[in-house]
Formats: sequence, C-alpha cells, structure tokens
Amino acid sequence: MKAFTKLLVVGSIGAAFVAFQWSGPTLDPESLKGARVLVTGASAGIGEQMAYHLAGFGAQVVITARREKVLQQVVEKCQVLGAQKALYIAADMANPSDPERVVKFAVDKLGGLDYLVLNHIGPSPFAMWDGDVEHTRWLMQVNFLSYLQMAKTALPTLDQSKGSIVVVSSLLGKMCSPFVAPYTSTKFALNGFFGTLQHELAMQRSNVSITICILGLIDTDSAMEKVKGITNIQAWPASEAALHIITSGATQQTESYYPWFWYYGTLIRDWFPYFRDISIRYFYKY
Ligand SMILES: NC(=O)c1ccc[n+]([C@@H]2O[C@H](COP(=O)([O-])OP(=O)(O)OC[C@H]3O[C@@H](n4cnc5c(N)ncnc54)[C@H](OP(=O)(O)O)[C@@H]3O)[C@@H](O)[C@H]2O)c1
Ligand SMILES: *[C@@H]1O[C@H](CO)[C@@H](O)[C@H](O)[C@H]1NC(C)=O
Repeated sequence: MKAFTKLLVVGSIGAAFVAFQWSGPTLDPESLKGARVLVTGASAGIGEQMAYHLAGFGAQVVITARREKVLQQVVEKCQVLGAQKALYIAADMANPSDPERVVKFAVDKLGGLDYLVLNHIGPSPFAMWDGDVEHTRWLMQVNFLSYLQMAKTALPTLDQSKGSIVVVSSLLGKMCSPFVAPYTSTKFALNGFFGTLQHELAMQRSNVSITICILGLIDTDSAMEKVKGITNIQAWPASEAALHIITSGATQQTESYYPWFWYYGTLIRDWFPYFRDISIRYFYKY
C-alpha cells in the first residue's frame, strides 16, 4: 500500500472509533420500565435530574438526601412524570448508620433492587486547603465510606436481580487540580475502591455489574456557585449528564465519560506532565 492509502485507512479507523465514542451506547427505555432504583443525593442537581428521567421511563424510584421538604417535591414531580412508584427517605450520610438504613428501606419498599445509584456528595469548600483535617475525615464518610456501606448492604439483593451499582465520580478522581483537595481525595478513593471491586466481582462471576461514571464540570447550582469568578471552564448540562449516567448503568458500561472527550484527556494525562500542570493552573484565577 502507498503511504497515503495507509494514512487514509488508519485515519478512517480512528475517525470511526471517535464517532463511536461520541455516540456511545443506546438506551432501551423499556428496560427501565418497572426497574427498582435507589438514587442518592436526589434532592438537587444531577441526582434530581436522574430521578426525573427514571420517572419518565416508568421506573420505581426511591430517592434520598437530607432535606425532607425538597425530597417530597421531587417525589411529587416524579409521580407526575410517570414513575410506577416514587418514594423518599431522608438521611444524612455523615451518620454511619444511615447508609444501611436507606438501602434496607428501598429493598423493603420495592421488594428488591435493580440499580443502586450512588451520587450524593457533602458540601466542601472550593478553596486552597486550610489545614482542616477534620473536614476531610467527615467528607470521606459522606462521599466515600457511605458508598461502601450502601454497596455492601445492597450486594446480596443485587446478586439476585442481576443488578448494578452505578458510582458517580469525577474527572477530579482522575486528575489533580487546585482548590479541591478534600473532594478530589474522596473521588480518587471511589475510583480505586470500585475499580478493585469490579475486578473481584468479575473474577467471582458475580451477577452484579459496576459502572463508574467520570463527569467533567456540570452546570448544577452548587457547582456553578463554587466556580463563579474562579474558572471559566465550560460546564455541561445536568439533565444530559443524568441521562448519560442512567444509560451507562443500564447498558452495563464499566467506565463512562461525560462529556466523552475527557476519556482522551485522561488517556494522555501522563504524556506531558509539565504542560498539563501549567495548563490546569492557567484555568484558575488566584
Ligand atoms: N456538578 C459538577 O460539576 C460535577 C462534576 C463532576 C462530578 N460530579 C458528581 O456528580 C454528583 C452530583 O453532583 P451535583 O453537582 O449534582 O451535587 P449537588 O447539586 O450539590 O447535590 C448534592 C446532593 O447530595 C445531597 N447531600 C449533601 N450532603 C448530604 C449528606 N450529608 N447526606 C446525604 N445527602 C447529602 C444533597 O441534598 P441535601 O442537601 O438535601 O442533603 C443533594 O441532593 C456528585 O457525585 C459529584 O461529585 C459533579
Ligand atoms: C446469580 O443469578 C443466578 C441466575 O439467576 C442465580 O441462580 C444465582 O443464585 C445468582 N447468584 C447469586 C450469588 O445470587
């Protein structure tokens, strides 16, 4: 083959691959009709949007967060949107006994579970680390240890239903960036823990699949409030991010990226560390 033809062939394969990544897997909405789903952190942001999508697909949802009043409103909207069942349970994931209590509530009310969607995060400052170790300890319980507790409690019932655990993680669980030391620690921990669990469940030929979703900046109120005036990085819509997470879980992806191009960002992460670090800092005002 001439060099040019070779280049054309390689280029086309590359383009087709990127196009495939771009389109991603397709969701069969029917597969979610009647599905029993527990979504955490669903009183606001991406979790709330996931609840609405799931309701529209006719799923049975249990949502949780701390604020009971807001949960009540989200549940009412879910019922209007077509949820087969929509229930809430108020809980604080900083409380070590709440994660188990929430899963037991969902399993009890829905008669089992098909999806455990772990999404909640506790508030954390978007600022330079001020030496506060206690905050990180607290955040580790909320953002990380509670995920383990819920996964542990849900695994037996997910095994029976051939269900899935969906972990909402972040690019900040893959790359280091300023102003997020406690938060990024909890996300790195999640990727490490659930990445290991994926291997172990596969080796044991478990019925349970785990999906880890890596999100870039999303335009939720809490995130926008934090980055205001500090960075101009483009934020992507919460509703689309929510649909992406549901699709990835329902099609049993091992790992998924939203927006998709961050997959390539993490691939080349370690190629040019000097330029990577310079450019990351360039995006933040200080
Ligand atoms: N937004 C982004 O830019 C972005 C980027 C990458 C990854 N992500 C990930 O996407 C997920 C959702 O983010 P988001 O922006 O939608 O968050 P969010 O809008 O701040 O919502 C957080 C949710 O967690 C709940 N929550 C907070 N503290 C809690 C506690 N102690 N116990 C139980 N629930 C608690 C909140 O409700 P209550 O206050 O009622 O408890 C709320 O429902 C997170 O895992 C986040 O790391 C987000
Ligand atoms: C996995 O699914 C099969 C078939 O539905 C079932 O017989 C088996 O008990 C499940 N495994 C566990 C550990 O629950």
